[in-house]
Amino acid sequence: MLNILFVGDVNGKPGREALKAIVPSLVKEKKIDFVIANGENSAAGFGITDSTFTDMLSAGVDAVTLGNHLYDKKEALPMIENDSRLVRPANLPEGNPGRGFSIFTINKDSKRINIAVANLTGRIFMAPVDCPFRAADRFIKDIGDNARVIIVDMHAEATSEKIAMGFYLDGRVTAVLGTHTHVMTADERVLEKGTAYISDAGMTGPFDSVIGVKKEIILRKFLTGMPERFEIAEDDVRLNAVLIAADEATGRAASIERIQIKHG
Ligand SMILES: [Fe+2]
Ligand SMILES: [Fe+2]
Repeated sequence: MLNILFVGDVNGKPGREALKAIVPSLVKEKKIDFVIANGENSAAGFGITDSTFTDMLSAGVDAVTLGNHLYDKKEALPMIENDSRLVRPANLPEGNPGRGFSIFTINKDSKRINIAVANLTGRIFMAPVDCPFRAADRFIKDIGDNARVIIVDMHAEATSEKIAMGFYLDGRVTAVLGTHTHVMTADERVLEKGTAYISDAGMTGPFDSVIGVKKEIILRKFLTGMPERFEIAEDDVRLNAVLIAADEATGRAASIERIQIKHG
């Protein structure tokens, strides 16, 4: 059985600090074999940079998924294009920098196991993109026999679209894990044909905030409708993640467990 940790959107420096403080001991305690984290907000809430990516790797993260904020920092484009540990939504315009899935090889009990990590983004209340369902069909075909274990980060706003994706991919992938709303949902389950599912894995970052941003700023914006410069909040930092146990021979998930840990 493989233990895979999937960490919800890592938000700014507080999120990265929580990651570095919590993940290494969690990996030991829960005998985790592979760590994935969503890094689209790792650079002060907007995008990813070389240094925030390096920071996440230093916490023991093996694969980083992205989302609608992936291209916010222009300096990240070459890295997104060239580093296969970074995975961006598969349903972006063809030819965009980066890859929609990546295959990782780990060694466990002197066996080599391939794990595919894929990323999709939703179309409801989000910028227009290609059909995520067809994009999933394509990457499953492309992955083929190269990996039994496939973890999909479904980066989307609407729970309906995420749940639909869970059912669409049930039995074809190991897990469909929602991200983007930064609010963890309590609907984790293993679907009928063995796919672990949660609508949102939540956020790793400051909870004394409106989804990571200082609450005073967002309140002002709602009350006045005036533009505001967003700043990452600082207090009540927590890690949000899910732990999936999967059978590497079949690619089926045995369990999914929510993890919430307060930092400091
Ligand atoms: Fe996010
Ligand atoms: Fe997002």
